[in-house]
Amino acid sequence: MRSININLYKMVDLEKITIQKTSKTRINEVDFANIPFGKVYSDHMFIADYKNKQWGNFRVVPYGYMPISPATPAIHYGQSIFEGLKAYKNDKNEALVFRPLANWKRMNVSAERMCMPALPEELFMEGMNSLLELDRDWIPSTEGSSLYIRPFMFAADEYIGIRPSDNFTFMVITCPVGAYYSTPVKVRIETHYTRAVEGGTGFAKAGGNYAGALYPAKLAQEEGYHQLIWTDGKEHKYIEESGTMNVMFIIDDTLVTPSLGDSILRGITRDSVLTLARHWGMKVEERRISVEELIDGLKKGKVKEAFGAGTAATIAHIELIGHEGHDYYLPPVEKREFSNKVLKELDAMKRGISADTFDWIYKV
Ligand code: COI
Repeated sequence: MRSININLYKMVDLEKITIQKTSKTRINEVDFANIPFGKVYSDHMFIADYKNKQWGNFRVVPYGYMPISPATPAIHYGQSIFEGLKAYKNDKNEALVFRPLANWKRMNVSAERMCMPALPEELFMEGMNSLLELDRDWIPSTEGSSLYIRPFMFAADEYIGIRPSDNFTFMVITCPVGAYYSTPVKVRIETHYTRAVEGGTGFAKAGGNYAGALYPAKLAQEEGYHQLIWTDGKEHKYIEESGTMNVMFIIDDTLVTPSLGDSILRGITRDSVLTLARHWGMKVEERRISVEELIDGLKKGKVKEAFGAGTAATIAHIELIGHEGHDYYLPPVEKREFSNKVLKELDAMKRGISADTFDWIYKV
């Protein structure tokens, strides 16, 4: 178990975090047994400003609306990035966060691609910590629930010319959440629209990637699917990811997932699943998977399991895959050995029940 000693004051311009507490908590209004994803926010939020090439003005304030210039480039041109991670409680009522340093690293990968300043580790971690200390009671302890943590950064100049902003805002908000997908998901392979291309921003967690994916996903939702499986932007021949999660398959006895590139998000849950599978001695392949191979495997019953892996989605069983007007059903969820096992083990690790073999758990 990792407990990092953070010294924000030393590393980030000797400033203190000012804390303004809410005068009235909203926690009693929340039905923790029945939490929708992303609609209920905890009492406070963390904010930091980047001005004159420095991070400063660190503050925790009551969650709420905030004034923003109508000329901010984040609104006009989408210079904005985000992360998603989750906090859980163990049986001692301590707050545990799953792999926050991996999110911090990925946020800086996104920041570089989007011409945004790097976030010091201390700022990312202490922003999250200061919030979790205040809003610790918002971390649900019910199985299947957690506190979703959403760090994000956006361009904050008052300028609508096209150039990278000079000013930025970094914030963290949190919300108690239940399952992102409440049932096994129905996905359709997308072979017309494109989410990301080589040389593009698909690997970054940039807001615009998600905005551009809404319309094709909406068309699929009108046909009864929950989500798409994106294919490569050049030929639409190879499986990429699902937009809300990476995708993985058990083909025969091998865990197979598309290899990473410019157009696929470097999922932290994806990495956790691959690490666990390798640790368990399973055969793992990160490689190109053609649509043809997948459909052929589905027809011949070689694809034993299919699932999405993501922070919000956790391990989301795929019920069926649609392609060219036909739905290919996967075996029943209760027969899926690997995805059920990995879901259970990851959940146990996140709640401090299983050993933290890979040093993934950060105690607040
Ligand atoms: C996450 O899994 O954290 C994401 O950002 C995906 C989004 C669909 C909520």
